[in-house]
Amino acid sequence: MAHVIADAFGDDKPEGYVEPFAGGLAVFWHLHDTTALRSLRRSPVLSDACGSLMVAYRALQQRPEEVCNALQELTKGHKKPREWTRDYYRLRSQFNAYRAIVLKPVAAGEGRDVPVGDEAVKHAALMLWINRACFNGLWRTNRSGAFNASAGSYQTVRLDYDAIRRGGSILANFRAQLGWCDWRVSIRNAGEGDWLFVDSPYLPMDRQADSFTGYSAIRPWGHDEHRELAFQCCLAARRGAVVVLTNHDATATHEIYDQVNGWEVYARPEVTRTISQSANRMRATEVVLTLRPRDVVVPSNPNTQLSMLGDAPVALEDLHV
Ligand SMILES: C[S@@+](CC[C@H](N)C(=O)[O-])C[C@H]1O[C@@H](n2cnc3c(N)ncnc32)[C@H](O)[C@@H]1O
Repeated sequence: MAHVIADAFGDDKPEGYVEPFAGGLAVFWHLHDTTALRSLRRSPVLSDACGSLMVAYRALQQRPEEVCNALQELTKGHKKPREWTRDYYRLRSQFNAYRAIVLKPVAAGEGRDVPVGDEAVKHAALMLWINRACFNGLWRTNRSGAFNASAGSYQTVRLDYDAIRRGGSILANFRAQLGWCDWRVSIRNAGEGDWLFVDSPYLPMDRQADSFTGYSAIRPWGHDEHRELAFQCCLAARRGAVVVLTNHDATATHEIYDQVNGWEVYARPEVTRTISQSANRMRATEVVLTLRPRDVVVPSNPNTQLSMLGDAPVALEDLHV
């Protein structure tokens, strides 16, 4: 999938790169490996509403060896198969406790850097371990943002220290700006010569649309939020950014990311993914859409209530998906 997205950007290499829904940064790592980002003239802007994730990236960027040491320390008692499970719930509680300490001093939503003190290093190590140890790698939180997925069924928790160090050194070499913020804050950075990759939470597939109840006031990824995202992407393209966006290949997607505004279908890849803690796997068709500066027709401002969030700090830890 990452190579399809990379190809969708086209042949002109970017001067800047903006990814406002960073998650695991699969496309960013791929673009790095294919040297597509060698032409960058400014620091890439990578951000996400998940504070713990962005703290982990910042700790890896600035103190990679200390993060690896902390990881080794917390896994040193795990020698035999399944031995790690007896520590899972204790480490999960520790992770949630550090989360409060590390994220509290920073006003959420401003995109400011979270300081990387010793607690942040510990938090990053716990985050990396829990992410490998939890059930099917699902990142699930309760309404107050505390991580609550159960333990996975693996014999051992595999950690690739080389990959962890490598990720940290890529972020350091690029001097990546790593923001804990809502997408509305970082998308403003995208303009002339930039590639903007948009991988937000998806709209429901058509067969789920009638029964869809996954979004609520604190997880506002319904049509209004997507309309606002489509509008902001159009503004970014008008400023000169090339936009690539992924979503389900659903009727609502094409209505919101509309051809009349310049959106074009680049590919329709089929994917299989795990969708729930019950490990159900489901086939879905996704769509890769492109929006290029020369084609964009900016729609009228959707002016939803949600657009108010762009100017005010938001309780971002509540926006986990
Ligand atoms: C589909 S995932 C991105 C996956 C990513 N492309 C990868 O390679 O793993 C969507 C991401 O959007 C983030 N997110 C959800 N709501 C957000 C918001 N309002 N602003 C910024 N990021 C948000 C989630 O924390 C999650 O990491």
